[in-house]
Amino acid sequence: MTAAFFILITLEKKTMKTFAALAVAAALLGTSFPAVADGVLTANYGGQITETADGWRIEFAVRDGGVRAWVRDHGDKPVAATGKATLLVGGKKLDVPLKADGEVLTADAAVTTADKVAAILSLSVNGKPVSARFGQEALVAPSLSAQASAGKAAFEQVCAACHGTALRGSDAAPPLLHKFYQPGSGHGDDVILAAATNGAKSHMWKFGDMPKPEGLKPGQEKDVLAYIRAMQAANGFAGTTAAPMAMPMDHSGHMKH
Ligand code: HEC
Repeated sequence: MTAAFFILITLEKKTMKTFAALAVAAALLGTSFPAVADGVLTANYGGQITETADGWRIEFAVRDGGVRAWVRDHGDKPVAATGKATLLVGGKKLDVPLKADGEVLTADAAVTTADKVAAILSLSVNGKPVSARFGQEALVAPSLSAQASAGKAAFEQVCAACHGTALRGSDAAPPLLHKFYQPGSGHGDDVILAAATNGAKSHMWKFGDMPKPEGLKPGQEKDVLAYIRAMQAANGFAGTTAAPMAMPMDHSGHMKH
């Protein structure tokens, strides 16, 4: 802590010119970060997010049995919206009305988190038409090592109720097939093992805290980690260093190197 304060004071002397400097200070001090910083949009519920020409932030997520959408303004405040989702899934076109349920728009549809889905949201926000497109690739199920196979069984028993059998999240928890959790991200193996053992305080999303998981035997968290890594690698989250990182760290305050 002393070191962190020292750095903060040093930065203040330099008037904290850059966002990066502020980010480092915030990370060291453990303060929380704004949801949107430096032009990087952050989804609240693990979905895909886009900003329309009118400045509406639209987040979209596929769930098992339906879709979700959230509309927020520039200041990240929820905005009322109505409309429908047009989904292209398995060669079928589905038009489903979106129903407002508090901050979230929901629709039931014959779709799962493992499907390839193309979606167009046709919304009315403040009486004006707004549309946005999203897409999800079909889940790739890789062949698994013995350890990852054991991890899959344990994951499905203990973690999937919240993180989904496709590891793409649910209304209760974020997707683990996500760049925030890929190798080389701010959430390394140690963070995943710690979550599997003890749960986690809410700091990335608006799902709330992750309780300590019930039912893993000692050692099984390593199997679960192997499974998560295998699924990430097969689904575009291998976390190679080939792609340049947009920011030196994610917004959680976990440091990246
Ligand atoms: C009761 C629901 C629930 C269950 C069961 C659950 N999680 Fe979570 N998990 C969450 C939520 C909610 C978060 C988001 C916390 C946040 O905002 O960062 C989370 C976050 C995580 C994270 C990120 C942790 C961090 O420090 O950023 C990992 C990794 C994770 N879960 C793995 C697992 C694994 C592995 C299992 C099974 C052993 C599991 N979870 C079971 C709800 C759950």
